[in-house]
Amino acid sequence: MDRRKFLKSSVALASLPVTNFPAWAFAQQARSPDDENFWAIIRNQYEVTDNVTNLEAGYWGIMSIPVTQDYIKNTHFVNQNSSYYARRLYSKDYDNIITRIAGKLGVGTDEIVLTRGATESLQSLINGYNKLDEGDTVIYADLDYGSMQSEMRFLRTHRKVNVVNIAIPEPASYENVIDTYTKALDDNPKCKMMLLTHVSNRTGLITPVKEITAIAKSRGVDIILDAAHSWGQFEFDFQELSVDFAGFNLHKWMGVPLGVGAMYIRKNRVLDIDPLRGEASPDNDDVRTRIHTGTINFAAVMTIPAAFNFRESIGQKNIENRLRSLRDQWVNQVVDNKSVEILTPQDERMYAGITSFRLKNKTTYKNNRDLMDILIEKYSIFTVAIRGISKGGGIRVSPSLYNSRADMDKLAAAINDMTD
Ligand SMILES: Cc1ncc(COP(=O)(O)O)c(C=O)c1O
Repeated sequence: MDRRKFLKSSVALASLPVTNFPAWAFAQQARSPDDENFWAIIRNQYEVTDNVTNLEAGYWGIMSIPVTQDYIKNTHFVNQNSSYYARRLYSKDYDNIITRIAGKLGVGTDEIVLTRGATESLQSLINGYNKLDEGDTVIYADLDYGSMQSEMRFLRTHRKVNVVNIAIPEPASYENVIDTYTKALDDNPKCKMMLLTHVSNRTGLITPVKEITAIAKSRGVDIILDAAHSWGQFEFDFQELSVDFAGFNLHKWMGVPLGVGAMYIRKNRVLDIDPLRGEASPDNDDVRTRIHTGTINFAAVMTIPAAFNFRESIGQKNIENRLRSLRDQWVNQVVDNKSVEILTPQDERMYAGITSFRLKNKTTYKNNRDLMDILIEKYSIFTVAIRGISKGGGIRVSPSLYNSRADMDKLAAAINDMTD
């Protein structure tokens, strides 16, 4: 029996607004970020609360309506067919989905495994990386994600290595970020592995991964790449980055239901990551032995193709340009305000949709929690307070395709109003 036969018996779908998945689907073409008629159609593909203007898409990206409908359908299907689907039919869907993901990243199907998120992927990579000898060094930065920093620090006891934390300069520039990592490598000749975050969750900074990886590789240093925020936020050629280990999620910027991620290990490097405790013998080089998710959300995984179709119909470059343009819309209105510090440089290579700001001298977490509250209560704008940056915290702003230019104007007006 196949999935279509099962589907016939599925109960009716919960009702969602019908969006008439548009005629331009699969007819991707270059779209100006200023083509407001087009972007209004895209906005209509999302059902978003109007209780607050949500500029916090960085936590996760809500599904579009067509994707939500597919997810509901898949949830009904899995619920009805239960373990029969999981045991008899799922592996075919899984293989097709892995083929699609691998194709998008330009990697082999034997180099990718699904996880429940970037955390699971990266914890397995960092914890499992077994090329470290006692006394070696590993490096991470202040702009890396908190739980990845903890995982790196844990290597002190787990692998008995020296763990070095560096600060990314503020203001950052393409050159000074590369120089900072180069200097860290110069200062730590025993470094074997370094964590790089493609897009910082703290400031939205895009790290020059390709350049830094080339420098690291020339010194025999491996990179573990945290790509939680990059895949889907902007277009890049993963192969060009030349990293051997990476963790992704699909629920932030790829528009997949919550709880789906992916882990990449270059084929000839699988043995350099320990298999999950007791999962397989260390000489088994099947990438799937490097993760064990337990029972996963089958319906979420089954919805990956619908989410990819939706995004492909818009076009990744169009999405990137729109997000960057929404970001520019608010930043350009506050950048000359002397009371505001924009924490992400005005260099198109270094940002996409996410950017953070700080009001002068408001560096504590409490300062920024208070500011976040004011933005909600007085201006009905939802952002998030961030901490952990060496020079102090700030407010992160992450718009999505469901945001309008008016949303960005509203934020800029609020910031200027607060600093009058
Ligand atoms: C930079 C970065 N890495 C990793 C993660 C963890 O991602 P996930 O929620 O998929 O586990 C996040 C989530 O916010 C993140 O921003």
